[in-house]
Amino acid sequence: MMADLPTGFWSGWVVVLTCVSLATLAWVVLSVYFAPPDKPDAEAHDPVWDGDLREGSSAPPLWWFWMLLGAMVFSLVYLMLYPGLGSFEGLLNWSQGKRLVSSYEIYEESFDARRAEIANLSLAEVQADRALMDTADRIFRRECSACHGVDGRGQANLFPNLLDVDWQWGGSPEQLEQTLRGGRNANMPAWEAIIGEENTVAVANYLLEFDNREHAGRAVYEQSCAACHGVDGAGNVFLGAPNLADNTWLYGGDLDTILVTLREGRQGKMPAFDERRLDAAQLKLIIAKLAR
Ligand code: HEC
Ligand code: HEC
Repeated sequence: MMADLPTGFWSGWVVVLTCVSLATLAWVVLSVYFAPPDKPDAEAHDPVWDGDLREGSSAPPLWWFWMLLGAMVFSLVYLMLYPGLGSFEGLLNWSQGKRLVSSYEIYEESFDARRAEIANLSLAEVQADRALMDTADRIFRRECSACHGVDGRGQANLFPNLLDVDWQWGGSPEQLEQTLRGGRNANMPAWEAIIGEENTVAVANYLLEFDNREHAGRAVYEQSCAACHGVDGAGNVFLGAPNLADNTWLYGGDLDTILVTLREGRQGKMPAFDERRLDAAQLKLIIAKLAR
């Protein structure tokens, strides 16, 4: 588009070029119709074709002239009103971009009312509405399924299952909102460097039989792990420390995986979804889908 030309120089150049070609065109038209009459001896030099066909210079019909004049006046008026002359925006200040923006604003407004309505519904009302829950599924597939899986059951022991009963960070609507809006950064330290290999193996084995309080690893657990995971192993939603006493695992509950967790630590990151990625209505729909 002309208006996007990088410098005033090119814009000026286009303006000059446009004006010069318009003026030339006008001159050509005028000279055809209003040329001085042919010189008297001109006829003598006109070649004659095919016996009686003369190459004359009689003017084309006059209605052509009016048509051409009309077209030129039209281009001048057009260039005054609309962008087309270099970076001159035209008197009407019209542009495709602006037109797009204004129709987008109308579009936004018509949906704003509906969005505000959804954002003010109760979770139960949203959950009872089939169409809204279908929308929630679509939002989930678009924004979340890459990590949590299309069905929300998690993936590759790296992204948590969102359909099980276990919530690392809590499953209340408020806690879910905090998880989504703020994101979550879990930090499970690498333990082996701190407690040594022997204690690491002992506590890993203890996790496999958590109820056996006589286990040699229990003492290590109470000293190093209970602060976050709880004396009873129920976890802590404020730290995102998962329940270790049940049978659901984020990274895995077999001895090898537990040892990897203890040796290397775990830093799960749930990204934050601000207003631009999930507006209030979309957030309400997603929470209605996840909260139970
Ligand atoms: C500072 C708090 C903190 C302490 C202390 C702590 N953990 Fe953790 N632990 C976490 C957090 C947070 C996670 C979740 C990590 C994630 O989501 O990426 C976690 C995750 C785990 C997991 C993975 C669970 C799963 O479902 O896959 C195991 C196993 C574990 N911890 C065992 C231990 C053991 C054993 C100790 C003691 C030696 C310990 N933790 C001490 C915070 C802690
Ligand atoms: C880039 C990958 C990624 C995307 C995209 C993502 N998540 Fe997560 N999410 C994670 C990870 C990793 C965790 C685990 C964080 C941890 O270890 O504590 C998580 C944790 C969560 C939790 C906490 C689970 C619990 O047990 O407390 C919820 C709820 C959640 N995600 C919902 C969503 C929703 C809803 C979306 C889409 C709007 C989404 N996530 C998009 C990676 C992702």
